[in-house]
Amino acid sequence: MSNDCKRAYITTPIYYVNDVPHIGHAYTTIIADTLARYSRLIGLQTLFLTGTDEHGQKIQEAAQKRGKTPQAYADEISGKFKTLWDAFDISYDKFIRTTDEQHQKGVQKAFEIMYDKGDIYKDNYEGFYCVSCESFFTKTQLIDEQFCPDCGKPTSIVKEESYFFKLSKYEDQLLAWYADKDKCVLPKAKKNEVINFVKQGLHDLSITRTSFDWGVKLPESMNDPKHVMYVWLDALMNYITALGYGSDEKNLHFWPATVHLVGKDILRFHAIYWPAFLMSLDLPLPKHIGAHGWWTRNGEKMSKSKGNVVDPAEVAQAYGLENFRYFLMREVPFGQDGDFSQKALIDRVNSDLSNDLGNLLNRIIGMSGKYSDFLVDSKDILAYHKKEIDTAEKIIEKLPSFIYDLQLNRYLEELWKILTIANQSIAMYEPWVKIKEGKTEEALALVALVANLLAKVTIKLSPVMPKTCATISKSLGFVITHDSYQKYIVNKELLDTFTMTKVPPLFPKIEEELLKAPEPVATQEKKKEPKQEEGIITIDQFFQTKLKIGTILEASEVAKSDRLLQLKVDLGEEKPRQIIAGIKEFYTPESLINTQVCVVSNLKPAKIMGNLSEGMLLAAKDKSGLSLIRPESSKKNGTPVG
Ligand code: MSP
Repeated sequence: MSNDCKRAYITTPIYYVNDVPHIGHAYTTIIADTLARYSRLIGLQTLFLTGTDEHGQKIQEAAQKRGKTPQAYADEISGKFKTLWDAFDISYDKFIRTTDEQHQKGVQKAFEIMYDKGDIYKDNYEGFYCVSCESFFTKTQLIDEQFCPDCGKPTSIVKEESYFFKLSKYEDQLLAWYADKDKCVLPKAKKNEVINFVKQGLHDLSITRTSFDWGVKLPESMNDPKHVMYVWLDALMNYITALGYGSDEKNLHFWPATVHLVGKDILRFHAIYWPAFLMSLDLPLPKHIGAHGWWTRNGEKMSKSKGNVVDPAEVAQAYGLENFRYFLMREVPFGQDGDFSQKALIDRVNSDLSNDLGNLLNRIIGMSGKYSDFLVDSKDILAYHKKEIDTAEKIIEKLPSFIYDLQLNRYLEELWKILTIANQSIAMYEPWVKIKEGKTEEALALVALVANLLAKVTIKLSPVMPKTCATISKSLGFVITHDSYQKYIVNKELLDTFTMTKVPPLFPKIEEELLKAPEPVATQEKKKEPKQEEGIITIDQFFQTKLKIGTILEASEVAKSDRLLQLKVDLGEEKPRQIIAGIKEFYTPESLINTQVCVVSNLKPAKIMGNLSEGMLLAAKDKSGLSLIRPESSKKNGTPVG
């Protein structure tokens, strides 16, 4: 992200309405909100877009399951997103819904232009489709010829007439764009993944469906009413239709987007399909596409079936919205996966917010109250503390680069260095001693120094914690606006003389986890989940067991055991695993060497008769004996089974 123009256009993905908002949605939206607030603070004319993605097979099926029309269902869930963002004070300027008429018109116009350009042709699609990801795959892309490589769910075979977009035509142009625009996809590692994907060759993309009807119709000029648009074509267009593309184009000057924020799972759509569509439409390409990582819960992937989905509303209610915002922005480097745990959140609040930030404000209030009846005057700061001010200014100068690289955690980390300077200055200069020694001027200069450092931090922190920072700045006698940003950050002025006002402690220490069992599952959905039949597991539960093919490299008897053999099995990992298996009665060690087996690879290691066992072999046993389960034909070691 850069401020090389006067406008900023910041977007979140539009969220599918088959699911209530969870921490992943909140994460992207809060990053976008932070960037939008930052852009406004530095004086850019800003448009921040979010919304809901309401068409497609997945939504149609979800609505059917609940006995609702897709429109009624979309209205309900879209409303939940909007309500949550409003409760979260998300400063979006527009909330788009793909069922909006204006959006649908824009998509139809785009389709016509791409068709007239010769980029769309009619053919038959035959391949695989993952409804959950709304994504097409070829057989070779699937895991074990049937499972979605992205989400692991079973795919279905699709065979239907379809219009295709000539994606392959744009391969070279895309590669040239990635090469030319260093930061078009952030972080760099993700950009490289995209480049490698494109280099493997792009297939033309099926962009219409005929086997269901919940989607944008083709433009009338196509005279082909049985087709509806592929949901990703429809959805991606939201970024321009929200600006009025194809209808009232009064906001189109905001295009191209400054940054599209997306999760890593939907980067392919944004960094390959979307720019190719834009090339076809002869529109400029987005400046940046930022792909963030995924949140897990106490180390596990979140899923409805596990009941471990973090409900952002519950967390915010328990721990405070702005504490939660700070945690999300600070905890994880942009692009990497992060783990949500109450402990990590509590640590951040108690250490960064309560100790470093809140205490500093309390100490300034306390000291200024005692020494100068709350009056703070900056007049002697440079005489006594020029070095501290200069160091802080140097840190501040570096901060924008972290925003432009979307490294919000680094931005906050740097900002905290200024708080450290402030806290250390108090410890080092001991103003209470100076007062005792009659050096009142020095003591007051110190108080003014830390008040100024805190003021600068507060302005820079305000996009992440707007309300808290407004309270702190009020206590420090000023209001955070673009003007005060210009004055104290750009022009590096010191605070005018002011009288501090008291505020109650902003970050009381949190002593214990505030979300008790049951864990904060996204509540509405949890209640609706049908009761699971006894003994029946879901596909997600099945995939919790990681089965892999491996080759037995070594086999020997376990001393003093009639039952056990000690095996070394190559699972395609760095080191072979040692597995203790109760198969001695049925197999000799020699007969096992160089044969393949199926191994439960994520079993907690255990000691069996004093020997470490790091897995379990699958076998079937009946009266006639025991047979190991093996692949029908040889498979690469480590191949997943499922
Ligand atoms: N509708 C599409 C986006 C279309 S944009 C033109 C979609 N919607 S979604 O609701 O399924 O996902 C929205 C976002 O939530 C994605 O960016 C995805 O990465 C993010 N997350 C979903 N689960 C997540 C976590 N557990 N952690 C972080 N983000 C995750 O995809």
